[in-house]
Amino acid sequence: MRLTAVLAALVLSHHPPEGATDRHCEANARKIVHRFYPLRHCQRSNRTVIGLVNVQSVRECADFARDKQGLAFNFAPVKRNSTNWYDVVREREQNQSTVSSWKPASPRVASFGFEDFYNCHVLDCPEYRNLSTIVNDTRFDYYTLYARLLPAGNATCIPSIGMFLFEDTKLNYSNAYNACVSAGGSLAHIASDARTFQLSKYIASLPETNYTTNNSTDTSSAVEPLYYVGLNETVKNRFFTSADERLDCFRFHAWAPGHPARNRTSPSCAALTDEGSWKVFNCNRTLPYICELHTSGPALYAPKLKRKCF
Ligand SMILES: *[C@@H]1O[C@H](CO)[C@@H](O)[C@H](O)[C@H]1NC(C)=O
Ligand SMILES: *[C@@H]1O[C@H](CO)[C@@H](O)[C@H](O)[C@H]1NC(C)=O
Ligand SMILES: *[C@@H]1O[C@H](CO)[C@@H](O)[C@H](O)[C@H]1NC(C)=O
Ligand SMILES: *[C@@H]1O[C@H](CO)[C@@H](O)[C@H](O)[C@H]1NC(C)=O
Ligand SMILES: *[C@@H]1O[C@H](CO)[C@@H](O)[C@H](O)[C@H]1NC(C)=O
Ligand SMILES: *[C@@H]1O[C@H](CO)[C@@H](O)[C@H](O)[C@H]1NC(C)=O
Ligand SMILES: *[C@@H]1O[C@H](CO)[C@@H](O)[C@H](O)[C@H]1NC(C)=O
Ligand SMILES: *[C@@H]1O[C@H](CO)[C@@H](O)[C@H](O)[C@H]1NC(C)=O
Ligand SMILES: *[C@@H]1O[C@H](CO)[C@@H](O)[C@H](O)[C@H]1NC(C)=O
Ligand SMILES: *[C@@H]1O[C@H](CO)[C@@H](O)[C@H](O)[C@H]1NC(C)=O
Ligand SMILES: *[C@@H]1O[C@H](CO)[C@@H](O)[C@H](O)[C@H]1NC(C)=O
Ligand SMILES: *[C@@H]1O[C@H](CO)[C@@H](O)[C@H](O)[C@H]1NC(C)=O
Repeated sequence: MRLTAVLAALVLSHHPPEGATDRHCEANARKIVHRFYPLRHCQRSNRTVIGLVNVQSVRECADFARDKQGLAFNFAPVKRNSTNWYDVVREREQNQSTVSSWKPASPRVASFGFEDFYNCHVLDCPEYRNLSTIVNDTRFDYYTLYARLLPAGNATCIPSIGMFLFEDTKLNYSNAYNACVSAGGSLAHIASDARTFQLSKYIASLPETNYTTNNSTDTSSAVEPLYYVGLNETVKNRFFTSADERLDCFRFHAWAPGHPARNRTSPSCAALTDEGSWKVFNCNRTLPYICELHTSGPALYAPKLKRKCF
């Protein structure tokens, strides 16, 4: 009963689409469920910390991570002996204040940083490739949205957004769609300003050779980088995201001027430009594409968190 409650609380609530008006949109909003799962015991990740807080439980840390748009976190259980420097310092402060309440309690712990006084560290990217930035630290356990399968080496973390594959191989929309599904994801969800902005910024940073069209006679759009994303028109005039949500349910739209073009062949498929806009194309056109890797379930070998650290 209690466990169920904890798990329910760990569920990462999908942000309800802004301006969600009808019940259809709300149903969409409730569908997506992401959870943080423990992956390493007595270790923490050395990736960029974007939020720090002291909390009593892993559940509170997960809630905080969600607020901060974290993709992983390090959590130091409060009761993990004196290996938890936060507890040691607090106890020392209390000891000092009972002895002489006037004395300023500034902890003097050499080589400890600001972060060491917080037991919940929210990270903007998870561990991927090979856990190369995991460090031994008996105070902490490491939790991530990607516990079951670490994203492969060729995946790119877009901080606070997710894990993506920028594929240069040109495919038509349905082949790109299928390729993303086989890679353990789907075409990138694009219906937010942060996603559109961050993904297009990344495209703009790629070397030009990776997306320029081959030397075919089609020179009309030879230079513009375009990547298929999870947005297509399944029914005439009705665009859907890769999570099968209606685009109408999102307030954020980033159509390029003149798009979706009136003279388009419906159904059409959308691509992201390096300028942060969306353009529609005939779905049979081949383009590079962006896959978004899905978060995973619990680790195949979940660590035993009650065990002692060595
Ligand atoms: C972890 O980060 C700290 C500070 O940035 C650095 O000094 C240390 O070498 C890193 N450790 C690993 C294993 O990457
Ligand atoms: C605080 O005081 C208690 C009891 O006096 C003692 O056992 C403990 O070791 C002290 N803690 C620290 C960090 O000095
Ligand atoms: C892990 O991956 C990084 C970057 O790809 C690489 O530099 C490092 O050698 C790898 N470490 C191991 C133990 O495979
Ligand atoms: C962590 O500790 C284990 C055993 O104590 C050791 O084998 C391993 O190399 C350590 N890893 C790092 C990243 O320091
Ligand atoms: C990325 O890695 C995965 C798994 O190793 C592989 O299936 C995929 O083809 C790779 N993609 C690219 C573009 O190298
Ligand atoms: C458009 O996307 C939906 C799922 O979002 C998919 O079922 C459909 O096949 C796609 N259309 C094309 C032409 O790929
Ligand atoms: C760009 O293309 C080159 C050559 O095809 C390839 O080696 C490289 O990995 C690509 N870069 C990216 C970021 O996809
Ligand atoms: C154009 O494409 C043909 C065949 O794909 C290739 O042989 C030729 O080298 C290409 N030319 C340039 C300038 O890339
Ligand atoms: C639609 O019109 C634009 C210019 O108004 C043109 O460039 C484009 O080729 C047209 N597309 C189709 C599918 O006719
Ligand atoms: C994409 O290409 C495949 C063959 O590779 C074809 O079966 C499919 O119909 C094409 N899809 C579109 C939308 O053109
Ligand atoms: C894509 O569809 C358009 C219009 O339906 C057609 O003119 C064109 O030949 C098709 N291209 C391919 C590669 O199938
Ligand atoms: C906590 O401290 C006790 C007594 O010092 C020790 O027996 C136990 O192994 C420690 N637990 C952990 C998780 O380090």
